[in-house]
Amino acid sequence: MTQQSRARLVLGNWKMHGSLAQNAVLLSALRSANTEADAGPHAQVGVCVPFPYLAQTAQALQGSVVSWGAQDVSAHEQGAYTGEVSAAMLKDFACRWVLAGHSERRAYHGETDQAVADKARAALQSGLTPVVCVGETLAEHESGQTLDVIRRQLAPVLALGAQAVARMVLAYEPVWAIGTGRSATPEQAQQVHAAIRAELAALGTAQVLVLYGGSVKAANAASLFAMPDIDGALVGGAALIAEEFLRIAAA
Ligand code: 13P
Repeated sequence: MTQQSRARLVLGNWKMHGSLAQNAVLLSALRSANTEADAGPHAQVGVCVPFPYLAQTAQALQGSVVSWGAQDVSAHEQGAYTGEVSAAMLKDFACRWVLAGHSERRAYHGETDQAVADKARAALQSGLTPVVCVGETLAEHESGQTLDVIRRQLAPVLALGAQAVARMVLAYEPVWAIGTGRSATPEQAQQVHAAIRAELAALGTAQVLVLYGGSVKAANAASLFAMPDIDGALVGGAALIAEEFLRIAAA
């Protein structure tokens, strides 16, 4: 499957940023931008916001071309899991996306590869699209373990089977490129994306979108998107600036 026949997707990950007042300004700028025209008919744009702002985001973006989602989800359906948020709750706020296994969740909250797969499965059961994030640390990168790490992280996710995987989005986010201003080069990213694509193809799910994340800016987006296996971006810092984010979507 060629890049031309796959859709494009640019997702913002606000992380733990924002306030009601700041969000109102950002969301209204996203809403009023003609994102569809900017990004082309095959590109989708969305934002993954902190849980408390889902209602505000849903209200602000309803009826626009910009979709929304959350940054984490419980693997459990419901029950005594203090502090957790279920996929059904996210669905109540008309979420389309949910991130699973962002490197910050893996690093600071001990999320294992299996836990990430469990979260992806829970999201699918509620009709959400999980955006499963994978990526190696700087030490792993420098010791040449990148592809081994990616395959290990993907294994329990791919084990959910072709039907499940076909309804996911994957994101490659090298940890050393996140928030550092040091993006992977298009060629470096493409090499990993091609390996991920090969894993997907082996499962018969080569059409799954694979996003790149890590210091994506308007200035480097076009060169990343020119790579055959990079289908879009998962954007952190630059997603908090409406104009910058929309320029990435337009790229
Ligand atoms: P930055 O774009 O700020 O590097 O963050 C990337 C990221 O972690 C998106 O999920």
